[in-house]
Amino acid sequence: MTNVIYNTATTLSGFIADDDDALDWLFVVDQPDDDSFGSFLASVGALVMGSTTYQWVYDHERLDEHPERWRASYADRPTFVFTSRDLPVPEGLDIHLVRGAVADHIGAIAAAAGDRDIWVVGGGDLAGQFYDSGHLTEVRLSIAPVTLTSGAPVLPRRIEADALRLTSAHARGQFVEARYEVRYPRR
Ligand SMILES: NC(=O)c1ccc[n+]([C@@H]2O[C@H](COP(=O)([O-])OP(=O)(O)OC[C@H]3O[C@@H](n4cnc5c(N)ncnc54)[C@H](OP(=O)(O)O)[C@@H]3O)[C@@H](O)[C@H]2O)c1
Repeated sequence: MTNVIYNTATTLSGFIADDDDALDWLFVVDQPDDDSFGSFLASVGALVMGSTTYQWVYDHERLDEHPERWRASYADRPTFVFTSRDLPVPEGLDIHLVRGAVADHIGAIAAAAGDRDIWVVGGGDLAGQFYDSGHLTEVRLSIAPVTLTSGAPVLPRRIEADALRLTSAHARGQFVEARYEVRYPRR
């Protein structure tokens, strides 16, 4: 079975972006000096993200003028952007706009990933939709020593301890990387 991994950085207080969708609080935190992200990315065959996350990358990387910056981050990995809108997609990038239920798209996403994993980049509700549909297999959090009082929630679902099993926890720079296997006890 394909691993479907929600891998994100989060504050201690459970937010992945502030109220303005800004990540300044994240970029000032000391990063790990290992290549843990590179190793993770090597295991990824396809990416999934919601439209706010895609739009953030599009705007911050100025993809309209510099589409090559997408490849610099994600190479040629197929990416599925969940949106009800007709968002701009730079020519030549393997980006698919999809909408509706995860169940309607998981087959195509898994096929695109091949024998590698699916990275749910965010946001939190989209990760929740993958959980709801029974396809999320891992939650991997890099917890930053930052608190915010509001913002975009990391995983806005009620998921209790019988459904999340801690499989590892490591200090990486100023982050704690915690990995949780997702179990579906009710199914
Ligand atoms: N800290 C980190 O490492 C990290 C990681 C990822 C993201 N982020 C940030 O966190 C924030 C997340 O934003 P967000 O909470 O708004 O989440 P998001 O998942 O990026 O975007 C949510 C939007 O995606 C669309 N969407 C979601 N599910 C859909 C479905 N099933 N069908 C059709 N459209 C669907 C909807 O917009 P439309 O239909 O109107 O398009 C929805 O409002 C962003 O600022 C992002 O940059 C941070």
